[in-house]
Order: sequence, then C-alpha cells, then structure tokens
Amino acid sequence: MWNKEQLTQLLQDKLKDTKFIMVANRQPYKHILRDGKVTYVKPTGGVVSALDPVMRVCKGLWVAYGDGDADKKVTGEDGKIAVPPDNPSYTLKRIWLNNTEADGYYYGFANEVLWPLCHVVYQRPLFNPEDWKHYVAVNQRFADAVLEEIKDDDDAFIFVQDYHLALFPKFVKEKRPDVRIAQFWHIPWPNPEAFRICPQAKEILEGLLANDLFTLHVRQHVNHFLDTVGQLIEGRVDMERVSVVKDEHETLVRHTPISVDFDEISQLASEPEIETLMKELKEKHNVGDDQLIFGGLERMDYTKGIPERLIGYRRFLEKYPQFRGKVVYFQAGELSRTHIEKYRQLNKEIESIIDDINWKYSEGDWKPVIMCRDLLSTKQIYALFRMSHSFVVSSLHDGMNLVAKEYVASRSDEKGSLILSRFTGSARELTQSIQVNPYDQEEMAEAFKKATKMSPKEQTRRMKKLRQSVSENNIYKWIGTIISNLTNI
Ligand code: F6P
Repeated sequence: MWNKEQLTQLLQDKLKDTKFIMVANRQPYKHILRDGKVTYVKPTGGVVSALDPVMRVCKGLWVAYGDGDADKKVTGEDGKIAVPPDNPSYTLKRIWLNNTEADGYYYGFANEVLWPLCHVVYQRPLFNPEDWKHYVAVNQRFADAVLEEIKDDDDAFIFVQDYHLALFPKFVKEKRPDVRIAQFWHIPWPNPEAFRICPQAKEILEGLLANDLFTLHVRQHVNHFLDTVGQLIEGRVDMERVSVVKDEHETLVRHTPISVDFDEISQLASEPEIETLMKELKEKHNVGDDQLIFGGLERMDYTKGIPERLIGYRRFLEKYPQFRGKVVYFQAGELSRTHIEKYRQLNKEIESIIDDINWKYSEGDWKPVIMCRDLLSTKQIYALFRMSHSFVVSSLHDGMNLVAKEYVASRSDEKGSLILSRFTGSARELTQSIQVNPYDQEEMAEAFKKATKMSPKEQTRRMKKLRQSVSENNIYKWIGTIISNLTNI
C-alpha cells in the first residue's frame, strides 16, 4: 500500500537531483487580518486538501496567487514564505495580481468560461474577450515566475494544477523544452460538442498539449479530451499509447483519480478532542443527542447540487412525516466566488429553500435545517463528519469530490453512511455508498429514508469496504503513479 515512506523512496530513486515545482492558482495557506492581527487559514477545496500533504513530503516549491489580505505582510521580497506556517517543510512563492487581473483571469475566463463549460450543469459560459487577455497575461506571469527559479543546468519537474493554467505549459516549454511538465485537470472534461463553443478552444488545447503528461480523474474524461483534440486541432491521437502527438511532441493522456491522506485524516478524526468539538457544535446549533444528523459541507457552488439536495430533503419530510423532529440537516461550507452574479443568486436560492423548509416543518425547538456559517477548522470539520449519521454529497457533476473521501477516512468508528451523487468521479470507487441522481427528488427522498433506516450492522459492513477503497487508493498512490508515468517517458 502506498504511504509517505514509499513516496519519499520514489522521489529519491527518480527525482533525486530534480527541482520539484508545484504550480496552482490556489495557495495552501492564506494570511488574513482578523481583529487587527495577522493569522492564517487553509483555503477549502480539493487542490489544497490533496496537495498540501504531498508537498510536505516532496519539500519543493509551490507557486500560487497570493490572495490573502495579509499575505504581503509576512512574505519576503522574493515573494517567498516557508509553510506550513507552524511547522515549515516547503516553500510557497506568491504571485501578486491586481483586481483587474484577478477579475479577468480568475473570475472571468477561469470561472465564467472554463468552469461552466467543463461541468455541463446548464450554466451558460460568458465569453468576454477582455477576460481572455488577462487569462493569457496571468498564465505568462506564472510561467515567468517559475522560469526564474530554474537555472540553465537545473533539471526540473513542474506539476501544474487545474483549469486556471491551461496556457502555462506552452509558455514554459517555449523557453525550456527540456523541463518535464505534468498537469492535473481537477474538473471534468466535457464532450467535444460542449467544448467547441469556446472561442479560444484551440489555444486552450494547444497550451495543454505542451505538457508531457496530461491527466484527469476518470477514463471517460480522457476519452472526451482525446475526442475534442481529434475534432478541433491538427494532431495525431494515438489510441494505443493513449497520447497525442503534435508538432513532434507527445503528450501522454492518463486518468489518475485523486484522493486524500487516508491515514492522517483517520488518525486526527479519532483524537479525543474531536468528541469535545462534536459536543460544542451540537450545543451551539441546538441539536439534540437523539437526533439523526445529515451532514453537508462544500464551497457554495452551483455544481454541488445544494438546492437539489434540500429539495430532496423537503420531499423526504413531506413524504415521511414520522421523521419530523427526529432528523436534522446540517449544512456547512464557505461562500465562494461571490464576485460572480450566478454565485450570489445561488446563495439567495439556498437561503430561500431553507427558509421554506424551516417555516413549513419547524416544531417547538426543532428546526429541520441548520445552516452553519462559521468558518470551521479542520478539526471541527472532522467533528461534523463524525457526528453525521449520514453525509450527503449531491454534486450535479464533479471531477472527483474529495469531501466524500474525507468523510469515509474520518469514520474510523466504521459507522455512518454516505449518500453520493452518481455524477461524481468518486462514485466509481465508493460503490458502497447510497448512490443518487440529485435531479430526482423522489430518489433523493428515498435515499434519506434508506440512510435513516440502515442498521448499524449494515452501516459497518459498507463503511469497512468504503474505507478499504480510500485507504488503498490514497493520495500517495495518486502522486506516485503520476511521477512514475512521467519519469518513464
Ligand atoms: O474542483 C475544482 C477546483 O478548482 C479545485 O481544484 C479547487 O480546490 C476548487 O475547485 C476550489 O476552487 P477555488 O480555488 O476557486 O476556490
């Protein structure tokens, strides 16, 4: 089974004198001002939760956008700071963007074009030529910041994350064709008919094909990517090698499902302190010990199916009145990308459905839905997982969904059940979950009922299998496979 030690050994064997550079839009630690004092938080989301443990082992350099309001106060003139702040083991290099750049590159092209385009959840992408200009310029800035770190005779491995940096590989390879670059695409890849409407589709594909290795979560997304390349640009798709050859450069295309640090989560979530935090969370939100809790946690994003989940829960309460007063749905998670109108609308919609459910069904002290707006610490998140009789992940489309895997990793007590959308990458591995189509409110209502009725014995039988799957396919296996694929080229 893959673990930290095996990854360390692999790095020794294959990348000994090689600079390891991670490049992502999102930084692993963000410094902020709270009550006039500088403190730090760990941003939520798959990139950080999966890659921070990896970097703690690889000990390289992470290059990212410094978006914290106190980042500059603690960062050196070279943009660098040692992290994790309490126990440093690698270096973070921050890139500064002004509001116009962040608007065009991050909110604009990345999140109003590529995000809806790739998720296909019926949100229309907004193509704005100005945003594209900023996307190009910021990708070039990231490339320059990384190139600065690689001396002429250095051997380097650059590991790029996600859809914010599709042009980065091309900009780096133009200057340094010798460095090896791999990119992981954390979101789905749509079919060619969906992707081809992007006015810059060709440029995006050409940027990505400068990688030596391009990898996504699941085979279906690999197939979509190869079909898109085959239909939209000149290049040879080699189905035998699963690669694309363009201008005599080959890009291997692979699927490597991302995961979490199973052992670390399992151990931290079992610490006695978690019990205290569970008690505190319940007390603060007025949840009785005899109530069954359904948990939900995510960035408030329209791809996560939060309104659909609440509608399914409302149907469950309507259809099965015997559960009123006995169950609670506890939703936590950070507001996200609120600079974008669609996200503001989503938050209003969520508020309004919660208000409707609570107005219709509350009785005495009991409220069927609790919305927790607190910024939860990692340990409080584990407490939420542990106190949830059942956890609900209802994404309308998701590359993987690591919250589902984190929930499983945290349940060392082998209790609890997982209601999971079939439209997540993780549904392919977490087959012992209760799988649902979040758009189908009847099926959602039945899933809530099934979770409520599941015997402790059945919960444990399923949870054991779920845990075995996440423990075997952990984050060290993911990065180990990517490094092995790359170094075997
Ligand atoms: O799931 C896609 C993704 O980009 C993740 O890779 C990331 O963790 C998450 O969305 C968070 O997005 P943002 O960085 O915009 O908050």
